[in-house]
Amino acid sequence: MLLPIRGKGLARAAANLRREGRTPINRAMSETAPQKRLYIKTYGCQMNVYDSERMADVLAPLGYGMTDDPANADLVVLNTCHIREKATEKVYSELGQIKLMKAARAEAGHAMTIAVAGCVAQAEGEEIMRRQPAVDLVVGPQAYHQLPELIARAHRARGERLAADFAPDEKFDALPARRPAGVSAFLTVQEGCDKFCTFCVVPYTRGGEWSREPASIEAEARSLAAKGVREVTLLGQNVNAYAGEGGLAALVRRLARIEGLDRIRYTTSHPRDMDDALIAAHAEVDALMPYLHLPVQAGSDKVLKAMNRAHTAESYIRLIERIRAARPDIAISGDFIVGFPGERDADFEATLQLVREVGYASAFSFKYSRRPGTPASAMPGQVATEVADERLQRLQALLVQQQQAFNAAQAGKTLPVLFEKAGRHPGQLVGKSPYLQAVHVSAPDRMLGRIVPVRIESAARNSLAGALELESA
Ligand code: SAH
Ligand code: SF4
Ligand code: F3S
Repeated sequence: MLLPIRGKGLARAAANLRREGRTPINRAMSETAPQKRLYIKTYGCQMNVYDSERMADVLAPLGYGMTDDPANADLVVLNTCHIREKATEKVYSELGQIKLMKAARAEAGHAMTIAVAGCVAQAEGEEIMRRQPAVDLVVGPQAYHQLPELIARAHRARGERLAADFAPDEKFDALPARRPAGVSAFLTVQEGCDKFCTFCVVPYTRGGEWSREPASIEAEARSLAAKGVREVTLLGQNVNAYAGEGGLAALVRRLARIEGLDRIRYTTSHPRDMDDALIAAHAEVDALMPYLHLPVQAGSDKVLKAMNRAHTAESYIRLIERIRAARPDIAISGDFIVGFPGERDADFEATLQLVREVGYASAFSFKYSRRPGTPASAMPGQVATEVADERLQRLQALLVQQQQAFNAAQAGKTLPVLFEKAGRHPGQLVGKSPYLQAVHVSAPDRMLGRIVPVRIESAARNSLAGALELESA
């Protein structure tokens, strides 16, 4: 699943940058009194959100504290995403603005170091510095533990500035302990991808599939739980390809035994790696939440084959049936691409048909974006933008309808809600249902971090509203 990419074009002002750059780590760390100010902006998926937190952790001992104002930052890090063309272009337009801030700071006698991290850094490397010379260093996703050294080097001489090689085994061991910002935390357990879907850059930006040791993951989860974290979301580009002993199912069972860790989620999964043991865990492990993000991408077997997805529409639907047999109330989510090369009207209709058969609780859908160097970018039958736009609109209308129906079906039920933060209105808290829906409730602050039964009273497209059950009030 992708988090919405925090977007901004050239036209938007620095005020916008400040507002949208606010992340949980910015808030958590602004309480310290730092000598140097660090601004991190995160694009793309949850792996990047996790990595941004870890970069802040690695830089804190050097005296860097978070700021949400890039104009006053000593160090600006853009943690970038390469998945679609728009995501990449956003980085360059943002760099154009940051460059102006750097110049303004220089005039006032202060230096600013600009670092580009993440998947654009990995994919484009030195090219970034050619396109935007204000950039001081480029650092790929497996080299964040080297940041202090790279920054020191950039300060000394603006010469060798690239660290984008794959050495994932070093990354996690070399990072300091985490400082979680809330009651729900991400925990990366797997990185990389060997699947080579023909449209996708991830195997090139993140390297091959690689899994962390279960003991190291358990230690991190225990330390998070000791700091008040109640829910972890295990992350991986193909998290269910987790190759530690016993696979993801064994890891989930192991983490479910940790006291205080009441909820476990994982994302993103590939249909090919959804094995019986993991399906059984959904039936048997209470802490494993009834929500599964299982991207299918398309409903036409011809398109799926051209995408190199290694599943058919039929095999995906049978798989969903098996998962639902194990956990009947599970919420299914997915990713879709429309306008893949060679997609005809009939192929697109097959996608709509699959969506109708599965019934999604939520979904992300994208217009195919031609990525340089991927096999699909050279395929014949590239689909006209207007055609893809129209298909995307139709698909999204159907998916929104399904999401609304799924939310509406919760009205009248009592659901356990994990309260995560204050709501928009005074006296209100926001939490999550087991199905990952945001739930707004009038509740006292002391309920933050607790899992409380809530009677669901109404449903909107993106959230639910409810009231505390009397006995818990
Ligand atoms: N590993 C995950 C997804 C990673 S990328 C999986 O296999 O499902 C997240 C989503 O971005 C993908 O599921 C896909 O729907 C979308 N995506 C990837 N490359 C794309 C491209 N070139 N154009 C449009 N969407 C793309
Ligand atoms: Fe990309 Fe496919 Fe790998 Fe997912 S499984 S990251 S879509 S190549
Ligand atoms: Fe984007 Fe890289 Fe994640 S390309 S989706 S940030 S793995």
